[in-house]
Amino acid sequence: MYKPVNLSDQIFYVGVNDRRTNLFENMWPLDRGVSYNSYLIVDEKITIIDTVEAGHFEKWMAKVRDIINDRPVDYLVVNHMEPDHSGAIRILAELYPDMQIVGNKKTLPMIEGYYGITSNTLTVKEGDSLALGNNNLTFHTVPMVHWPESMVCFEETNQILFSSDAFGSFGTLDGGIFDDELDFDHYKEEMRRYYSNIVGKYGNPVQKALSKLSTLDLKMIAPSHGPVYREHIADMVAMYDQWSKYEGEEGVVVAYASMYGNTEEMAEVTARAIAENGIKNVRVYDVSKTHPSFVISDIFKYKGLVLGSPTYCNELHPNMEALAMKVQHMGITNRYYGVLGSYTWAGAAVKKLNEVGETLKWESVAEAVEEKHALKTEKYKACWQLGEAMAERLKADR
Ligand code: FEO
Repeated sequence: MYKPVNLSDQIFYVGVNDRRTNLFENMWPLDRGVSYNSYLIVDEKITIIDTVEAGHFEKWMAKVRDIINDRPVDYLVVNHMEPDHSGAIRILAELYPDMQIVGNKKTLPMIEGYYGITSNTLTVKEGDSLALGNNNLTFHTVPMVHWPESMVCFEETNQILFSSDAFGSFGTLDGGIFDDELDFDHYKEEMRRYYSNIVGKYGNPVQKALSKLSTLDLKMIAPSHGPVYREHIADMVAMYDQWSKYEGEEGVVVAYASMYGNTEEMAEVTARAIAENGIKNVRVYDVSKTHPSFVISDIFKYKGLVLGSPTYCNELHPNMEALAMKVQHMGITNRYYGVLGSYTWAGAAVKKLNEVGETLKWESVAEAVEEKHALKTEKYKACWQLGEAMAERLKADR
């Protein structure tokens, strides 16, 4: 029933699209859905690389069986144990009781812990190979990209890297599976939102993985979410290199919380000053309106960041506190920053936002601006000066 999607004569895409789930990991909005990619190698040995989220088992298995018919599956390679990829392991193992489950020494205890499976397992380590006939898989561990057991495998005959979460993207595959069949630019934003929110904390492990994989001559990258790459491989590697070093582009995110519009007005003045002083990429976000995953994604993109919050119960506004905490947890470094805030009887927000920048060793571009009650002339000028200073600091890097 399904027309096979070939990566090579013997390798097939058998992933599924999910347009029903609202939140990935029950946190991240899936406005454009997500795909759970899985791959099938039909050789002397039949091998599946990663399963799919459990609720999608039926349509996934229909694709697999349309290709292999009654032949049994010999190997299941588990590159990653997060349940969006491992969710169908138990039912697959019941369906194919002789199937061997391939993982590394960190994978297999997780398979036991999640699914109670302890038999028919094959442990591989860095550099081990698995001969399937014409195809040959070599395994490379990539710890913390995205979990400790994360692993990728390289099919040497066709030079395909099955990269697991690395190079993955939110967004379903709407007809096009390969990057040369779709609008690459359409996916870029969702690629960065996926990277920054799911893997972004692990910049150093990503750098180590890129270094380890740099010796491979890649003809194709087949991740576990989003498009399969055969045209934009160099672009993807370059983007990952940039993001994992926290190297921002010229531009500023102005993110604020505001209850009655006073901190918002300070953010507007600052944004206007940044733009009037020659910075075209300015993104202003009300953190009570826009989900933090979109704000974080742009914070990864741009070098400048202005954070604003009113004081609320002697703390940050809760929605700004959530964003600030997330930014700190992710350890985003290498940013120029400024801080704004307002209060009614006692100020605290500006001090707390400054602590975020100091903790992450960001470079402050100007003194923080904190206004009592509504914005007045003196602090209007200070907001403007903060915007000017941000623009000048960014332009100095040109
Ligand atoms: Fe797509 Fe970390 O799982």
